[in-house]
Amino acid sequence: MEKYSDRLQRLSFSQTFVMSNKVRELRAAGTDIISLTLGEPDFDVPADIQEAAHAAIDNNYSHYSPVPGFLELREAVCKKLKRDNGLEYLPSQICVSTGAKQAILNVLAAIINDGDEVILPAPFWVSYDEMVKMMGGKSVIVTTDISADFKMTADQLREAITPKTKALLYSSPCNPSGSYYTYEELEAIAAVIAEHPQITVISDEIYEYINYDGTHTSIAQFSEIYEQTAVINGMSKAFAMTGWRIGYSACPKWLAEACEKIQGQMTSGANTVAQKASVTALNTDPQQYRYMIEEFGKRRDIVYNLMKEIPGFKVNYPQSAFYFFPDVSFYLDKKINGTLISSVDDFAMFLLENAHVGCVGGLSFGDGHCIRFSYAASEAELREAMRRIKDLLENAEIL
Ligand SMILES: Cc1ncc(COP(=O)(O)O)c(C=O)c1O
Repeated sequence: MEKYSDRLQRLSFSQTFVMSNKVRELRAAGTDIISLTLGEPDFDVPADIQEAAHAAIDNNYSHYSPVPGFLELREAVCKKLKRDNGLEYLPSQICVSTGAKQAILNVLAAIINDGDEVILPAPFWVSYDEMVKMMGGKSVIVTTDISADFKMTADQLREAITPKTKALLYSSPCNPSGSYYTYEELEAIAAVIAEHPQITVISDEIYEYINYDGTHTSIAQFSEIYEQTAVINGMSKAFAMTGWRIGYSACPKWLAEACEKIQGQMTSGANTVAQKASVTALNTDPQQYRYMIEEFGKRRDIVYNLMKEIPGFKVNYPQSAFYFFPDVSFYLDKKINGTLISSVDDFAMFLLENAHVGCVGGLSFGDGHCIRFSYAASEAELREAMRRIKDLLENAEIL
């Protein structure tokens, strides 16, 4: 008898996981590796947020919270959504979860039946496709490329919709491309969605604050699809709180109740100490934490200037998040120093083994042309990583 469930067997390990294992193995063997594989800020949690967590422990916030989170935190989320996004939500529409990841899973679990289709503009965050599979759904991938700044148009969306389409799931700002959708682009997408009331938009805005020109639009702002939209956000990227595991969804009432029902049977309320710390983070003027974004912005420019000089790399200038997603298709089906590169994942492995720089091949992001570099690393590491790759490729025999 097969021990594992069909559900488990539908899932794959992500390429990020494969690459970080390889990085660990090479480091254990004494190789000096610069790993640009990880999607987390390299800053400490700001001191005022840490103090709020200490105070929560001192004040004995050690019992279960309500399933959708403390009312105080849900009120802080509503205030944030109003202040930053012009969105009106009641605390009863907010469900605080164990990371944005769980918030997305709650929504998918609430709406996806076996065989339902979920539209994923590619490149997409690696977990989306796996989460859809976990819930029995089918991903319908809409391909974009560097010439379109990795963004799906409203026409592409219209073509992908079928009677089985249940959701559209995307991140803006986007991991892995670093692009974000403008007001006008989202307005056009919202107009298509409004024609299909059976579709829910799951708008993952976890990188909202890491936006260099500061013009974030949430698709929930288009009132004709407010009732069809789940806004996802969280503390991980904006406040360098990845390990604290707090995310949230803001949904129409019908969907918020469903998320609470699911979460109540899965994990209950999220970590109470981290919830209390999140109240402080959200109630503080975001400008106070802007120093992290400015630092990311500096690194973006450094990497951009160095990366565009690497032979065979096509690079866009990402406006948000902390990733580069260069098109390296020049190397596909070629031999570099005798190693055949059959896919972008092979190319990422080649760079790790030969330049000792870790990045992630695009296949698990739904893209066969690009590789992803995180620039959540020190300036010295970033410069050295780009130098190593350029040296390797400039001097390689390419056949
Ligand atoms: C686009 C996107 N959404 C969600 C998440 C997960 O966030 P959290 O740590 O809140 O679960 C990530 C983390 O890498 C991400 O890149």
